[in-house]
Amino acid sequence: MNYPVWEVPVIGSQLVIAIIAIFHVLVSHFAVGGGFYLPMVEALARRNGDRAWRDVVKKHSKFFLIFTAVFGTITGVGIWFSIGLANPEATSTLIHYFVFGWAMEWVVFLIELTTIAVYYYTWDRIPDRLHVRVGWLYAIAAWLTLVIINGILCFMLTPGDTWVGVAGSGKETHVFWSAFFNPTYWPSLVIRTLFCLCLAGCFALVTASRIDGEKQPQLKTELIQWSVRWLLPIFVLLPFAGAWYVWQVPQVQRHLLELGLSTIGPGAFTLVTRMGVTFVLAFATLLAIVYLLAYRNPRDFKLGTAIVIILLMQAAIASTEMTREMLRKPFVIARHMYSNGVRLSQVAGYNRDGYLTRAAIIRAADQQAWAALDAAGAFATNSPGYRAQMLTRGQFMFRGQCLACHTVDGYRSMRDFVATRDHKGIANILTMLHEHKPDSPYHAFMPPLVGIQGEIAALNLYLDTLAAPPEKK
Ligand code: HEC
Repeated sequence: MNYPVWEVPVIGSQLVIAIIAIFHVLVSHFAVGGGFYLPMVEALARRNGDRAWRDVVKKHSKFFLIFTAVFGTITGVGIWFSIGLANPEATSTLIHYFVFGWAMEWVVFLIELTTIAVYYYTWDRIPDRLHVRVGWLYAIAAWLTLVIINGILCFMLTPGDTWVGVAGSGKETHVFWSAFFNPTYWPSLVIRTLFCLCLAGCFALVTASRIDGEKQPQLKTELIQWSVRWLLPIFVLLPFAGAWYVWQVPQVQRHLLELGLSTIGPGAFTLVTRMGVTFVLAFATLLAIVYLLAYRNPRDFKLGTAIVIILLMQAAIASTEMTREMLRKPFVIARHMYSNGVRLSQVAGYNRDGYLTRAAIIRAADQQAWAALDAAGAFATNSPGYRAQMLTRGQFMFRGQCLACHTVDGYRSMRDFVATRDHKGIANILTMLHEHKPDSPYHAFMPPLVGIQGEIAALNLYLDTLAAPPEKK
């Protein structure tokens, strides 16, 4: 525990990240896909000498600039803030090992922001051909931001044997490229690129829906049908890319998905199942709407329908991103660092010397007091005189090791989980968590509980207070 813990009531810090991230994924993928859509349609309009199409693209580019530049950057910074607070240890690790990656990212990001501004402000001011080229430059820069961030995101799920082999040795940066082009890199890049193109088509439908079907029936029909034809091949390719991706995820992690599929009903991982079902349903509905309401009936296609399409895309994206996150549990960086910041390599040391004993955020006076408690065998006698000290200690254990995934009273509420259990029942769970045997039911989704006997006893006491109704205290 080297950093203070960010305790977010009710929803927990992880959900804060999820809420910001899901919106960010939508906007940022649209920023990439739209980058290809705009110059492509603009070039087409130029070749056909079609002013009406060109005007639509011009209008669309204004919406595109505002939506992606404003919301993309705000939510992007939001992600940095929230991950820095919720997972400081992991954020610091990613920054350290991928310095070069982030440097590249920010360079292309700068080019992306500059070119989209130039693209928008030079409509009718520079020759059309040059304008289209600026659009392509933007598209490439935007896609490169994905090419880079994709490496770092995939690394967290599948760091690869080479990197895991040197993790903790100080030589991690020597294997930068192997960590970057890790096992899920290529399928993930393909899926994300397809998602980008898909979003571009969906947002183009939003713009096209606002064309008056009475006044400009031909324009509306052509644009909508063109956008639907843009979407169809993507719908066909996505399931294949998805299968390739899942196939690249190591068997141990894939096991979590299978757990979900075979236990429909209230169980630990039905969430994954629900995500899968949401994804399939969202896509099937999307296909039906796009074909029946847009392609077959372009003139009557309404803004409301277009927005429903975007919401379905959002649902599909949210479910895939959350499935990916679930696959990684209980790690934040697979096979290296658990969600609560404890590194696999630190487990033995913490169990021998204590988890809180060298924690940077704990006062030396407290540490000495706790050591004295252990020397006196306080946890064994459970004497009331030690109680206050032990509870503070237990709360630190809870904050450091459990709050990353649980809250006290809200999302995955610890109070609910321990409510039906007495001191012994909780002790049993803590023993199972501490031993972390491969056949433990918790092994797949919770990290080992680390620490010395006194610390675990303190956590037990603290959890007792959550379980006990207030009047019994
Ligand atoms: C990596 C995330 C993660 C961390 C860290 C974590 N848990 Fe959990 N825990 C879960 C998940 C996921 C579940 C299952 C939730 C569900 O069933 O909805 C769970 C369930 C539980 C349950 C209920 C188990 C049951 O059989 O009913 C208890 C008790 C629990 N956790 C205690 C703890 C304690 C104590 C800590 C800290 C030492 C901790 N957890 C840390 C993810 C985590």
